[in-house]
Formats: sequence, structure tokens, C-alpha cells
Amino acid sequence: MEFISNCTADAISKAAKALKDGHLVAFPTETVYGLGADATNENAVSQVYAVKGRPTDHPLIVHISSINQISKWAIDIPDYAIKLARDFWPGPMTLILKKSELAKDFITGGQENVGLRVPNQPLALALLAEFESLGGQGVAAPSANRFGAVSPTTSLAVSEELEKYLDSNDLILDGGNCQIGIESTIINCTYITPTILRPGAITNEMIENSIGSKLNLNTLDSDIKASGLLDKHYSPKARVILNMLAKPGEGFIAMASISTPVGAIRLTSPTNNQEFARVLYEALRDGDRFNLSEIKVMVPEGNGLADAIKDRLYKSAE
Ligand code: TXA
Ligand code: MG
Repeated sequence: MEFISNCTADAISKAAKALKDGHLVAFPTETVYGLGADATNENAVSQVYAVKGRPTDHPLIVHISSINQISKWAIDIPDYAIKLARDFWPGPMTLILKKSELAKDFITGGQENVGLRVPNQPLALALLAEFESLGGQGVAAPSANRFGAVSPTTSLAVSEELEKYLDSNDLILDGGNCQIGIESTIINCTYITPTILRPGAITNEMIENSIGSKLNLNTLDSDIKASGLLDKHYSPKARVILNMLAKPGEGFIAMASISTPVGAIRLTSPTNNQEFARVLYEALRDGDRFNLSEIKVMVPEGNGLADAIKDRLYKSAE
């Protein structure tokens, strides 16, 4: 594995070529780091599953450089999905759409739909554009962590987590800290009206404003498989316990307005929900770096982004 910290144009073309040659490239997005592979190359994609230790019936999101690539991968796209894509791409939103012929079972986990996203990160967009200029169609990229673990928001976290599983030709591109810090909002666009499969920084309110109607929040998509929907996920090694104050020697994550209990190890003190999302995963990882056995987290208040943070915290604490 090669770690590239100075991602010049040369580094990006090297990475695009590595993808085209069937190697893996971990790269930054605005949400979390992704572990990328050519989404049409079955061998490369199977390597992604092996490196992550992820069951192969869990589908991968295909990353594309712009909305113009959407019809390569999806068919029967509803008008509201086009509206969402126009309003929020590039950005932290994944659309689940009826798949085209290009999306094979090894990408979709055998389902009839495909997840698509245009990330809003300069390095990621440059890599995707360069890959497409070499004839590539899209980059499959799950979060660059082992299955069930916390998503990485720094390149160091990617290498700590995956170094020993990557091959010598695989690359990790450093692009600094991820600006959003939690994974994209996933929207199921295979019905007449959209439903939210995973909350994120594109909030229900933003979606409702875009499509001009209310979301049905009671729908259960029992036929959709998404590993982020598993109860246990996003977990550090330390046990995560919510809404209790930390005892001496335990880790503590809370808004800056909540003071640190005596003897507790303060892992972060964000001042608002945006910052909470951005720093949360590194704070959980720091708990593991310090070998803490318990991390107490005071969940943030509010809706929108706070709902997405709570979703991750409830699952990491299961
Ligand atoms: O922000 C993100 O979405 C990041 C960055 C790298 O783009 N990616 C990410 O991928 O979080 P992953 O694989 O860790 O989580 C994607 C979730 C999984 O739960 C997967 O099962 C679900 O999306 N998913 C992907 N394709 C799907 C599909 N066709 N149908 C239903 N769920 C799908
Ligand atoms: Mg993930």
C-alpha cells in the first residue's frame, strides 16, 4: 500500500490509473473516506469486500463525477430524484434507483436497484473525472473501515484500520479531514414517493423543500438491504454508553456547554451540531487509541443533522 499525502495532478492520474488497473484507492469525500474500486470490475470489487470483511450481499454505492452520469447506472428515474440530484449533488446524498444493465449483482448485492452519489470534495471529484476520462464508468466506494466499525474521517484512520489488508499496489490518498464527518443521507427513489434509508446532512426538511411535498416517515423498506440499517454498526472497540456522565478513567463526548466529570477523559467538546458530526468519529477512535473500555456520550439535541448523529450513536451503542 502506498500513502500519498501530497495529492497533485500527477498523484490523481496515478490513482485513476490504479483504479482502472483493478487496484483499490482509498480517497476522501466530504462525508467520510471511501475505499474505491472500479465498479465494473468484479475482481476489484471482491477485493473491497475482502478488505472490509463485509458480507457480499451488502450493496456498494457507486460514485460518479456528475449528474450527467446518472443514466449510465440507473433507469426509470423519477422526476423527484432528478430534482434532488440537481439540488444536492455534488453533496452528501445517495440516491437508490432502479439499476441499469451496467450495475451487476456484485455491486447491488443481487438487488434490482443501485446506490449513486456525486461527492462534494475536490480531490474526489478530480479522481472521478480522471477515472471517467480513462473510460471508467464509476467508482464503488463503501466507507474505508472494517465491517461494523467506525467510518474513517482522516487518512491516518484509514491506514490504521486497513493497512494490513491492502495490497502493495493499492493507494491511500490524503485529503485532510472530512468536512461533514458522517455518512451521506440515503434516499430510496424506487417508489412513487421517496423514503429515507439513512439520515445524514441532507435533512428531511431540505428534501421536503426540494421535492415540494412531505416525506412519508412511517414507511419501512423491508425489501431493501443496507448494512447501515443493521442495529449494530459504527462501533469502536470501547463500549459506547449514551446519556450518562463518565466516571474517572472513562472517555467523555459532549457539547462544550457540558463540563467534564472529574477524572473523565474528555475526547471532544464541539460547540454546535455541525462540529459534533465532524469530530465524532475521530473522538470515538481516540477512545480506542487510548485503550479506553467505556466512552460515555451525551447525544446532541435538535432535529435535522442531530437526528443523523443520534442514528449513528444509537447503533454504535447497541
Ligand atoms: O457518505 C457515504 O455514503 C460514504 C462515502 C464513502 O461516500 N459511503 C458509505 O458507504 O457510507 P457504505 O457502504 O459504508 O454505506 C452505504 C450504505 C450501506 O448500508 C449499503 O448497504 C447501502 O448504503 N446501499 C448501497 N447501495 C444500496 C442499494 N442499491 N440499495 C440499498 N442500500 C444500498
Ligand atoms: Mg460504512
